Amino acid sequence: MKLSVSIAGVEFKNPVFTGSGTFNSGREFVEFVDLSKIGAVVVKGVANKPWLGNPSPRIAETYGGMLNSVGLQNLGVDHFIKEDVPFLRRYDTKIVVNLAGKTIEEYCEVADKLRYADVDMLELNISCPNVKEGGVAFGVNAEMAALVTREVKACSKQPLLVKLSPNVTDIVSIAKAVEAAGADGLTMINTLIGMKIDVHKRKPVLANKMGGLSGPAIKPVGIRMVYQAAKEVGIPIIGLGGIMTGEDAIEYLMAGASAIAVGTANLVNPSATMEVLQGIIDYMNLYGVTDIKDLVGVIA
Ligand SMILES: Cc1cc2nc3c(=O)[nH]c(=O)nc-3n(C[C@H](O)[C@H](O)[C@H](O)COP(=O)(O)O)c2cc1C
Repeated sequence: MKLSVSIAGVEFKNPVFTGSGTFNSGREFVEFVDLSKIGAVVVKGVANKPWLGNPSPRIAETYGGMLNSVGLQNLGVDHFIKEDVPFLRRYDTKIVVNLAGKTIEEYCEVADKLRYADVDMLELNISCPNVKEGGVAFGVNAEMAALVTREVKACSKQPLLVKLSPNVTDIVSIAKAVEAAGADGLTMINTLIGMKIDVHKRKPVLANKMGGLSGPAIKPVGIRMVYQAAKEVGIPIIGLGGIMTGEDAIEYLMAGASAIAVGTANLVNPSATMEVLQGIIDYMNLYGVTDIKDLVGVIA
């Protein structure tokens, strides 16, 4: 059975990645998961310097998912290179670094420092607010998404995935613009903006009022967006959003994703990545599928 996938010239042993921000650098998972069995560890957003994140409370449960407004808390790229890269390199997995920034210059500062680091791929999170455009996320219009992709691609050494925001009316126009601007692949989807109110306190539950909705509740949106984008772009797609089981992962592959990532499920079940991988293998055995590639994009 062939599980390996090749994306932008990088060979991954299997199509199961971790969703950025739900697995950090993997340290907290080593008692549950052999990191060498994961296709790639996609680390939490890394910025040019440490970010404190948003005030608490910044996590809330919802039906079939959760809201978070963590605000990309991280220790910065220098700490990442010094502490996390050597840790992850002890395992036989690929390292994908999620880039966070408030300006194009900040993203480029991170990508530039990573030129000399032993990492395999970058993932540009364009859901970050662009402070020069009044805090509107880079990923919500095609021109801004293309501009940030072009500039960050130019300052990056490793292949660049661009992680799209689902908070748009026309995902296909953004996917095409980002492809034309030089992205080597797409990651879809990030969280959907949501809100929850505590009716007894008459207050929003999150200190930041709004946050990103993730988990099984968003899976149909992710499947729909991957399906629409895969029909229109030639670059590979990493599918994520609400994957809890192997069958959820197969849905993303059939919609057109070449690989998948497990996010919120890790917070509920720390062995989720391994269970999803086993579920994919079981499905392939059941239907006599010998190469994972034969499942990609089978839905017309
Ligand atoms: C607590 C938390 C933190 C996250 N942090 C990041 C991040 O740093 N960068 C990023 O691109 N996405 C981040 N995400 C989004 C996830 O990577 C993923 O795109 C989204 O949650 C949908 O997948 P899921 O339903 O499997 O979680 C975060 C999600 C959660 C729940």
